[in-house]
Amino acid sequence: MKLVASVFVLALAFLSQALENGLMRTPPMGWLAWERFRCNIDCKKDPQNCISEKLFMEMANCLVTDGWKDLGYVYVNIDDCWMAKERDARGQLVPDPERFPSGIRALADYVHSLGLKLGIYGDLGTHTCSGYPGTTLDQIEQDAFTFAEWGVDMLKLDGCYSSAEYQAQGYPRMTKALNATGRQIAYSCSWPAYQGGLPPQVNYSLLTNICNLWRNYDDIQDSWDSILSIVDWFSKHQDVLQPAAGPGHWNDPDMLIIGNFGLSEEQSRSQMALWTVLAAPLFLSTDLRSISQSSQEILQNKLMIKINQDPLGIQGRRILQEKSHIEVFLRPLSHSASALVFFSRRTDMPYCYTTSLAQLNYTHNTIYEVQDVYSGDIISGLKTADNFTVVINPSGVVMWYLYPTMYLDRSFSFINHLYKSETKKFHPFPL
Ligand SMILES: *[C@@H]1O[C@H](CO)[C@@H](O)[C@H](O)[C@H]1NC(C)=O
Ligand SMILES: *[C@@H]1O[C@H](CO)[C@@H](O)[C@H](O)[C@H]1NC(C)=O
Ligand SMILES: *[C@@H]1O[C@H](CO)[C@@H](O)[C@H](O)[C@H]1NC(C)=O
Ligand SMILES: *[C@@H]1O[C@H](CO)[C@@H](O)[C@H](O)[C@H]1NC(C)=O
Repeated sequence: MKLVASVFVLALAFLSQALENGLMRTPPMGWLAWERFRCNIDCKKDPQNCISEKLFMEMANCLVTDGWKDLGYVYVNIDDCWMAKERDARGQLVPDPERFPSGIRALADYVHSLGLKLGIYGDLGTHTCSGYPGTTLDQIEQDAFTFAEWGVDMLKLDGCYSSAEYQAQGYPRMTKALNATGRQIAYSCSWPAYQGGLPPQVNYSLLTNICNLWRNYDDIQDSWDSILSIVDWFSKHQDVLQPAAGPGHWNDPDMLIIGNFGLSEEQSRSQMALWTVLAAPLFLSTDLRSISQSSQEILQNKLMIKINQDPLGIQGRRILQEKSHIEVFLRPLSHSASALVFFSRRTDMPYCYTTSLAQLNYTHNTIYEVQDVYSGDIISGLKTADNFTVVINPSGVVMWYLYPTMYLDRSFSFINHLYKSETKKFHPFPL
């Protein structure tokens, strides 16, 4: 009786710990303008790349025609610099009339007609980071209503020109305001990125109640150093961050910069693998009109996306930092599967890293089938105690998808024979 009661309490506690808008049960995927296109508003000099309705429509077209949408990349998200410099006479936010002549409602309609979703940007404060009109506390309900009326599907609420007190009041109030519109609008909070301190002075259990995702740390830049600083920060604070993530509420290490200028091919593969084990949102921020075939292949890797979108939504962790500057990351997945990322921080040459699943604390004495996520190679019959060697390129990764084969493999009797008495210990798992 006592046990039943406490399980019940646990279940209630869990239920109350999630934003109840039903959205983003797996990490969101889409395209976000900021990292690649910033606040480029000069449509006279640079009509192809300026922040305008044309840019978002073209990216939406690419998402559909180049196979992104079918893989789950469905959000088309506007960032800063879409607004006119002033609100209108009714105090309503308005888009820049020259760059968004058709208005946001028309853009949302267009995006929806393609089966995609539209995201927009605001800032809880007097101004956005680039100096456009902010959302002050008394404008929260009005702006939420405006976004809903336009048919917007997601809001990123930044925190420039604000204060701690302001944010503590404003971020939860926007949750209520979005809910009150009656439209399902996913909510990305930049709040923690503005809360300092080490470890960060953030109430993550509150965040899981009010936001679908949140930016924890600095803006990503188009460089490998930026990736490393984000990975290190997330790993250093993983005891706090990792438990906060789950279906409907995600840590956001910021956009994918793959396809731009700062990463080599190895580094591009590393960002994709690391973001995937971190159960990170996958927001492309690159020019989809001219992306290279090799970048597209990395971003469209089906097994990678399946791992990122695993329904359990468990964020992975860095489990090892070797003296050899090899790091190992692990993400548990549904159906007793898992993903391992072997990441080289070395700068010399490909490194042969030898280990075993037992050394990585895989405790079940079972047999795994392994698929290399990038090469597609399959290793069958890997036992927990078997030593294996992976060859990891400098600033690169080897990524493995592992699943136990004990009750699935056609050669069941063969395995059964190998394992004899062990077999009884295995629990069947659903697939
Ligand atoms: C608003 O919140 C309630 C729970 O408090 C939830 O049932 C409802 O679906 C939410 N509505 C929207 C539009 O998110
Ligand atoms: C964090 O937020 C939760 C949920 O809103 C609340 O119950 C708790 O008291 C907060 N913790 C702190 C330390 O403020
Ligand atoms: C394996 O587990 C032991 C004991 O809990 C722990 O000390 C060690 O760090 C773990 N190793 C890995 C790679 O997780
Ligand atoms: C794996 O390698 C370790 C030493 O690195 C060795 O002690 C162990 O016997 C090896 N295991 C197997 C199954 O070969």
